[in-house]
Amino acid sequence: MALIQETDYGTPLRVAETMVTLEVDGNPVTVPAGTSIMRAAVEAGIPVPKLCATDSLQAFGSCRLCLVEIEGRRGTPASCTTPAEPGMKVRTQSPKLARMRRGMMELYISDHPLDCLTCSANGNCELQDMAGVVGLREVRYGYEGANHLEPGKDTSNPYFSFEPSKCIVCSRCVRACEEVQGTFALTIEGRGFASKVSAGGTDFLNSECVSCGACVQACPTATLIEKSVTEKGQGDRSVVTTCAYCGVGCSFKAELRGNEVVRMVPYKDGQANHGHSCVKGRFAWGYATHKDRILKPMIRAQITDPWREVTWEEAISHAASEFKRIQAKYGRDSIGGITSSRCTDEETYLVQKMIRAAFGNNNVDTCARVCHSPTGYGLKNTFGTSAGTQDFDSVDAADVIMVIGANPTDAHPVFASHMKHRLREGARLIVVDPRRIDLVETPHVKADYHLPLRPGSNVAMINALAHVVVTEGLVAESFVKERCDLAAFEQWRQFISEERNSPENVERVTGVPAADVRAAARLYATGGNSAIYYGLGVTEHSQGSTMVIGMANLAMATGNLGRRGVGINPLRGQNNVQGSCDMGSFPHEFSGYRHVSDDAVRQLFEHAWQVALQGEPGLRISNMLDAACDGTFKGLYVQGEDIVQSDPNTQHVSAGLAAMECVVVQDLFLNETASYAHVFLPGSSFLEKDGTFINAERRIGRVRQAIPPMAGYADWEITLKLSEALGYPMHYNHPSEIMDEIARLTPTFAGVTYEKLDRLGSVQWPCNEKAPEGTPVMHVGGFVRGKGRFMITEFIPTDERTTDRFPLILTTGRILSQYNVGAQTRRTENNVWHDQDVLEIHPWDAENRGINDGDLVSLTSRAGDITLPARISERMQPGVVYTTFHHAMTGANVVTTEFSDWATSCPEYKVTAVQVQLAKRMSAWQEQYREQRRITTQILSQTGAD
Ligand code: SF4
Ligand code: SF4
Ligand code: SF4
Ligand code: FES
Repeated sequence: MALIQETDYGTPLRVAETMVTLEVDGNPVTVPAGTSIMRAAVEAGIPVPKLCATDSLQAFGSCRLCLVEIEGRRGTPASCTTPAEPGMKVRTQSPKLARMRRGMMELYISDHPLDCLTCSANGNCELQDMAGVVGLREVRYGYEGANHLEPGKDTSNPYFSFEPSKCIVCSRCVRACEEVQGTFALTIEGRGFASKVSAGGTDFLNSECVSCGACVQACPTATLIEKSVTEKGQGDRSVVTTCAYCGVGCSFKAELRGNEVVRMVPYKDGQANHGHSCVKGRFAWGYATHKDRILKPMIRAQITDPWREVTWEEAISHAASEFKRIQAKYGRDSIGGITSSRCTDEETYLVQKMIRAAFGNNNVDTCARVCHSPTGYGLKNTFGTSAGTQDFDSVDAADVIMVIGANPTDAHPVFASHMKHRLREGARLIVVDPRRIDLVETPHVKADYHLPLRPGSNVAMINALAHVVVTEGLVAESFVKERCDLAAFEQWRQFISEERNSPENVERVTGVPAADVRAAARLYATGGNSAIYYGLGVTEHSQGSTMVIGMANLAMATGNLGRRGVGINPLRGQNNVQGSCDMGSFPHEFSGYRHVSDDAVRQLFEHAWQVALQGEPGLRISNMLDAACDGTFKGLYVQGEDIVQSDPNTQHVSAGLAAMECVVVQDLFLNETASYAHVFLPGSSFLEKDGTFINAERRIGRVRQAIPPMAGYADWEITLKLSEALGYPMHYNHPSEIMDEIARLTPTFAGVTYEKLDRLGSVQWPCNEKAPEGTPVMHVGGFVRGKGRFMITEFIPTDERTTDRFPLILTTGRILSQYNVGAQTRRTENNVWHDQDVLEIHPWDAENRGINDGDLVSLTSRAGDITLPARISERMQPGVVYTTFHHAMTGANVVTTEFSDWATSCPEYKVTAVQVQLAKRMSAWQEQYREQRRITTQILSQTGAD
């Protein structure tokens, strides 16, 4: 495939009910009212010269290159800033216009280095292109006058450079940072000839810049350019694919030279990201070809033995014979597997199929267990579907946005930019979070209410918000009457009206002033379209499912469901966590969330798969580990997950794995879990395979192979081999055939084909006969389950309590530059921003303990202790500390406990009672971990595999 060049229409698309027809160079064209002449011309196939305009930004009108003539009007207006009007007759070419444009270009070029042929942007530079378009041959003024050609280049950002001598001060970068990203890191300093772009008076690395790259993409010259392009040259082909990091699911053009990625460019037609990205997707892709990749299968008898590189055949047959031996000795249910939310839908579908059909049991689980399983439970029980209700674009119609337990600017950055855009347009904002996250106050955005509740008091808070709605007469009675189960509603109304749920009564639990809760509830209920966006701060609690139900109750009571601008929207973590759940990765459900005990459904799968299937749910991850410690669970297949680092109570996870007789790990890297593995199967990155991912808005997007699998096989092919060796051959020539099977067996996917995905770009499930092009907004006109179901949400405090010994609450999360357990981002330049996890602590708590910024501190819970540096931060509230879990050496999950959500076993990562003290040395666990890494490195060097 050649390099994809997307059309730049110069100014953004306008949506209007009225259309206008005009003539451009004699060609009639009809566009929505408000469209610029420039865009109308491009839509008529007539490009107009331009430099300061690009269609991701509002028109600015500074370069004067896009001048046109309009019949009956004087002068030569800029086509980018002049709206099309009915009957206009526009001329884009005339001798006068040509003369004027050449004059403009002369001014630019006379102040520009003449190194086009050796410039990294050669062949991909709009200034160069425009010089050609206007026919500039020579510069009459010469090159001797005052200029901006002084040397000096800012290379501080690890991924892009800034060379001011090439800048034409078009301001596209400044506007991209404001309009697209919403960070406002850049300004134009000075006036007139002295004006120049500045990153707030410092270099890019030390500025407010979050390295999203929007400015680089907007820059028409090589002033801002990716270092990878400077080093490797321009790409010669592109492949459109989907980011493998977070649940936003941004679409990218991977630009390649041969089989080497040169850069990732956000795809303008990407329906989740509309041409924007964050630092991870755009820049942090180097892990995919990192030297740490293991490219040969390996086996060993004991986990203390050196690895032995073997052929694929030997590794697969060894794994299969071990699993068979274990089942023969300990029974059918003594093995299981974990699917990966980083792998494609087709791959996770195959793993669960292999487990159910070839292992013969339902012992399959996925990482959603530790993040959004309560979302599935809560939304299914109230609305009838285990997924978010809206598409991302729905936020454009929201009048009130309530963010609960989520930190979008760090964890879902592209959607955060979208949300901030809507907030700058005037939507109101309520933030419910123990920390003062960036959204609470960021340039041109300020939350109307920040409710800094104590970790563990979510349900008390949502009950109090609902109490205000019900007791102050703010219930959307007609919505409830028409759409909800009235008996359940009346029961709930009685419960929630009880005085014990009032903001005044729960204040001592939440720590939030009742007046603020009342005001926030009134705003949510009466402010127009109100939408809730939430994250793991909701789900990772002992009452995670109750809280999801509580939010669903609140949205139903106020009628905020079933149209644009409203809804309950989980911001899901991993790129394909929605997909891995949809594909039947839970022990109790087939694809499409159908229970394994449902005879009709099971028979459907038995018939299709030609095998008898178990009708009882299998073991969850935590049950598998418990059973391993008890000696009844002996073998595990883990595809693309690192449960030692990601799951709570690390010591328990390690003990469970160590007690097994065969652990098979399939991954890119020898991760922490691989320390307990007997078979290692090299995995493949998202660049190496075809398939689909499903993002947080249920959007099924294509993953397309950009380079061949480095270890020889894509992950789905490896599962096929293992299944065959286990005696259950499956036959697919391409992932599209797996999707065809998913569509045949899953009603919500019945209309999904690769042909349709290629044609439409993506679709949101349900996609079937009723909705052939997918479903952006759920529950329009009625809930999937019929009547919406209110459920009682009794607040039951977690058993994890602060005590004299553990007086602080630890809560955990992630930051922008790192991702999850860090396996990918730690192998990129993103470490510049976060090379270790730190403990954020409020100044009072620090002072009480004699802790200064940067001091090494111990973090101790009843589960374990670790040490890490302290960062004193007023973002914290007194009594609450916070850390991330991106670095294995930190071992944040050594201190988290075994408490979990009552309904789904989702771990309670967000509430751990801890003590923090000054420390002199690393904790015993960390010493032990360091020794373990040393042994692993030694074993690897004996293997010759590093
Ligand atoms: S990389 Fe993004 S945040 Fe940084 S200056 Fe450019 S647009 Fe702004
Ligand atoms: S850096 Fe690029 S986008 Fe920014 S003003 Fe200069 S030429 Fe324009
Ligand atoms: S927002 Fe998420 S999906 Fe988009 S580029 Fe960043 S990490 Fe990738
Ligand atoms: S493109 Fe219209 S003024 Fe620059």
